[in-house]
Formats: sequence, structure tokens, C-alpha cells
Amino acid sequence: MTQSPTSPPTSPRTSPLTPVLTRRWLSPRSWSIDTYTQLEGYAAMRKALDSHPDQLIQLIKDSGLRGRGGAGFPAGMKWGFIPQGEDGPGAKPKYLVVNADEGEPGTCKDVPLMMADPHSLIEGCIITSYAVRAHECFIYVRGEVPHCLRRVRNAVDEAYAAGYLGSDILGSGFDLDIVVHAGAGCYEAGEETALLDSLEGRTAQPRLKPPFPATKGLYSAPTVVNNVETIATVPYIVSGGSEWFRSMGTEKSPGPKIYSVSGHVERPGQYEAPLGTTLRELLELVGGMRDGIPLKFWTPGGSSTPLLTAEHLDVPLDFEGTAEVGSMLGTTAIMVFNETVSVPWAVMKWTEFYKHESCGKCTPCREGTYWLTHILQRMVRREGTPSDVDTMLDVCDNILGRSFCALGDGAVSPITSGIKYFRQEFLDLCKEQPDVAQPEQQAELAGVRP
Ligand SMILES: Cc1cc2nc3c(=O)[nH]c(=O)nc-3n(C[C@H](O)[C@H](O)[C@H](O)COP(=O)(O)O)c2cc1C
Ligand code: SF4
Repeated sequence: MTQSPTSPPTSPRTSPLTPVLTRRWLSPRSWSIDTYTQLEGYAAMRKALDSHPDQLIQLIKDSGLRGRGGAGFPAGMKWGFIPQGEDGPGAKPKYLVVNADEGEPGTCKDVPLMMADPHSLIEGCIITSYAVRAHECFIYVRGEVPHCLRRVRNAVDEAYAAGYLGSDILGSGFDLDIVVHAGAGCYEAGEETALLDSLEGRTAQPRLKPPFPATKGLYSAPTVVNNVETIATVPYIVSGGSEWFRSMGTEKSPGPKIYSVSGHVERPGQYEAPLGTTLRELLELVGGMRDGIPLKFWTPGGSSTPLLTAEHLDVPLDFEGTAEVGSMLGTTAIMVFNETVSVPWAVMKWTEFYKHESCGKCTPCREGTYWLTHILQRMVRREGTPSDVDTMLDVCDNILGRSFCALGDGAVSPITSGIKYFRQEFLDLCKEQPDVAQPEQQAELAGVRP
């Protein structure tokens, strides 16, 4: 299973498993600096510190690495937006902020990565900070995972003790400090500008963009915000090169990806495979549907990505393939539901989550998620009316594209896609339906053939 960053997989794209980021996870004490360095750890950092920062930015651009936090923005391009050559007296500092908030329902890749291999994240932080000329880095970890906070803090202490952090790292003249910050457990704090506000000590609410963090981020200084998996991928690209990285995945979505498969499958867990792998291939890896009960619906990347169905088993799970079928890759949090699950019930549970997590800053999301929750709850209680489905779609229309941040857009995804594929299931829950149904439908509902 183990793959060296320098040896490309034999069969790109179609290789079922590509353990790159996960290759150390099963090693004894994989989280310790000793194991990490024995398994080629911190070699990429040495190579990077011998390079010019601009070369590193170019390398990441060439690799085509796209952000793993959901939106898929090209990482090298983001780094390139940081104003360079302004290091003189009075110049603003530059910051790297790692988004380790991981709050999207179904998403569970960053915490396992930080638990199993925290040094890959720290090595990535050192290389990225050096590339963008940052001397301070913050890792914003969701506060509800204290075991993960302890693990990352311990790894940072080990890195300081080894001389990989602090002043004049390995005699390179480069200084870097890392602060591991505990958030308070709030989904909206994962939105990058809300995260920056939270880091500054304010309520986690998003900022108006532009200006983007690259020019005015933390403390109004140029800031790169990247996801844990994005940053942890960087050392492998430095070691293996951009061509090696591009030998996996697809042309526009290169590289390996950690797919988190959960729900009604035999072996839920983290499966690292090339971008573009399909659910059919992943289902083979996870041992198929649990107890053989057929698949009904699934999310390709968390609850904010529109639902897909059994028709979509062969959709390539990359940024383009999912967009083509009206969904999104998101965080590759694949939640699988079998035929026993009611779609309106699942959609109601997600909508309750969005209502709870809406930060209240803008009206469409604050009010819309409240009313959508109420409608869905009464529908699930079988007290809805057939017009509720259209009312919900109307409310969704007033949220989508009209909210201040992407939480609003994400909140409507399960509802609109749920109705698109399973409209009748929603209508079946509406108590007035038998009254308005045509005689043939009434007979059908009563189980009698006309
Ligand atoms: C409501 C909301 C929650 C988010 N939560 C996270 C998160 O927990 N982790 C994350 O990396 N990105 C999250 N994002 C995306 C970030 O805003 C941002 O795009 C990402 O951190 C950029 O990193 P990347 O380019 O490496 O993907 C969230 C976005 C929204 C709108
Ligand atoms: S869409 Fe509006 S209310 Fe909802 S989380 Fe974003 S800013 Fe807050």
C-alpha cells in the first residue's frame, strides 16, 4: 500500500487506492516526530528551505493543487496573491492560517489526519509560510476535539525541540512560530473570514469580500487561509514534484484525495484515492452496502453539496464531474443512505443544523432556515400541505445567491436536490394530499387499482 512520493502509481486515475497522505497512518506511533522522520518526514522542508520562495509558489501552481476545504480554489494562485517584496520596516506581517475547524456534516478527514500524522501538517505549514514569507502561522482547530488539540500541540512542541520551528530554522535564516488555537465549536467559524474574526477574538461572522484575506486578512494583514489537507499535501509535492502529483487524479483536479465514506456501508472510513474515483469504485473498497440493502441517496461532499442517487454511481468524484451532474465535490464527505431512510426526515435533520448554525448576520439565511425548519418539521409530523413543497422551493430561491456567505447556499442544497429526486416522498407526507388527488391517485393511495 505504501507509495513513495517519488514513485508514481502504476495506473494513474484508475488505481483504487493511492496512499500518499495516509501512508504513515498505520505505522506504530505514527504521530511522533521519530516515526515521521524515519519515514522521510521533514526532508521536503530541508529541500524547500534551499529553494527560493517564488520557486515553491510556482511548483504548487504547476502541480494544480486545489484547496481541499470545499471550494477547490487553486492553492498556488492563492499564495501568489500575497503581496511580496514588502518586507522592509513598517511593512505589514504576513500570516498563514490553517483552517482545521472541520464542521461540515459528514466531514471527518482533517481530524484523523491531525491525529495520525500531525507532523505532515506542521511540515506543510513550514514550507507554505516560507513560500509566502509568513513568520507566524495559526492552526485554528475546532475546540470540540480536545484530543486533537493535544496531539497537534504536542507535535508543535516536538518540532520546536528539533529546531524545525522558532528562530533561524536549521540555519536557514527563516523564523517561524506556530500557534495552535482552539475555536469554540461553531460551523460558521469554518468560513475563512468568520474564522479570522474569531481568531481576533470576535464572534465568528463573515466579512464582506473584497477585500479578500490575501490582501486584508488577519489583523488586516495579508493572509493565506488553507485547509488542513491542502497544507498537508504540500510536502509531498515538494518531494515528488508537480509531474508526479499530476500523475494522479484528472487534468483539472489532480492529485490524491481523502474520501470519507460514512453511513450504510460495510466498512466506513477514510479511503485515499485519486480525484475522479467514482462511488461505484469506492463502494467496492468499503465492502459494499451494509447488509446488502440498496443505495437510495448520497452526498458527494457533505450536506452542503446537492444529493445524488443510485443513477450517479459512475460520476467521477472530482470538481468537474460533480458539477456536471449539478452537485459539488465539497469536502469529499460521502454519506451513504440506504432505502430505509426517509429523504424528508434526513433533509429536516440537516436543515435543523443549518438553522442552529446560521450566524444571523443576513436576513435570507437567518429567517429562511428558521421557516424551512418549521415547514419540514410539520411535514415530517404529517401535518404539512401540498403547497409546502412549493413554499420551500420559493424560500430556497430567496436564500440561494442572496445570502451573505456560502452557508445559506449550502443550507438549501439538501432541500432542492431532495425535492428534485424525491418530490413524491415529500408530497406523500402532506396530509391534504388524498383530498386534492385525482380519483386514480386516490385509488392508488388506497392501494386499489382503478
Ligand atoms: C459555512 C462554511 C464553513 C466552512 N468550514 C470549513 C472548514 O471547516 N474547513 C475548511 O477548510 N474550510 C471550510 N470552509 C471553506 C473556507 O471558507 C475556505 O474556502 C477554505 O478554508 C480555504 O481553504 P482551501 O483553499 O485550502 O480549501 C467553510 C465555508 C463555509 C461557507
Ligand atoms: S448566510 Fe448570512 S446568516 Fe447565514 S451564516 Fe452566512 S452571514 Fe450568517
